[in-house]
Amino acid sequence: MPYSALLAPIQSFLQCETPDEWIVAATKKENLDIVLIDHLICELKAAQSAMFLIRKYAVDKESADALLEWLKPFETLIYKRDGDWRELADKNKLTKSMIPKSDSPYGQDLIDKMVMLIKEELHHFYQVLEIMDEYGIEYKSITPCRYAKGMLRHVKTYEPDALVDKLIIGAYIEARSCERFAKLAPHVDKRLGDFYISLLRSEARHYQDYLTLAQEICEFDISERVEFFAHIEAELISTPDDDFKFHSGVPA
Ligand SMILES: [Fe+2]
Ligand SMILES: [Fe+2]
Repeated sequence: MPYSALLAPIQSFLQCETPDEWIVAATKKENLDIVLIDHLICELKAAQSAMFLIRKYAVDKESADALLEWLKPFETLIYKRDGDWRELADKNKLTKSMIPKSDSPYGQDLIDKMVMLIKEELHHFYQVLEIMDEYGIEYKSITPCRYAKGMLRHVKTYEPDALVDKLIIGAYIEARSCERFAKLAPHVDKRLGDFYISLLRSEARHYQDYLTLAQEICEFDISERVEFFAHIEAELISTPDDDFKFHSGVPA
């Protein structure tokens, strides 16, 4: 596999592989709509949570407002079912430069990495819409699965530990997505498989960026928290789950 070097650190970061039962369910024809719609939502959520982090921790008020505006047409399409998805093609660029909050201890690196990540997630979001259009799959709202919630409920309630935890969780979500795209690719048709492979490089970098930031913003060694979330994450992936989604556990 040409991308095995890319996947090696991800596979060792994750405590378990995606179970075969999940791959079987995800490649069933009747589940293609759920896989794609949930993937679409994951791309938007990834952009939203990165944006939440820079708005809350890093930028001044004016920049925070510009960020909200940036995301608006994407959110309107999903939550209000308003707008033409094709018009989002060139909306993933941010024209305004971001000004760090004067009292933010977290700084420019958080902003730079997260703005870059948001751009890429919004581009992925558009690409999933394109694929859905090609496959004739209409968007419908679906409920979120237990995965992200299952990790977020362990986030510490004080700073900077809370931010560190959120960044580590971000790293796990990115890493698991990347692992699942790689696992799915050989089992789906070429168009979709090529798309999944095209996502690996950026998702692999996103997981690294989250981890690097987590370590940068605090003075303690984060490896104990990484280990903690590794087990929570692996548990969510390897235990029975009757709600089939992109990040669900073993189909019950
Ligand atoms: Fe993405
Ligand atoms: Fe990502």
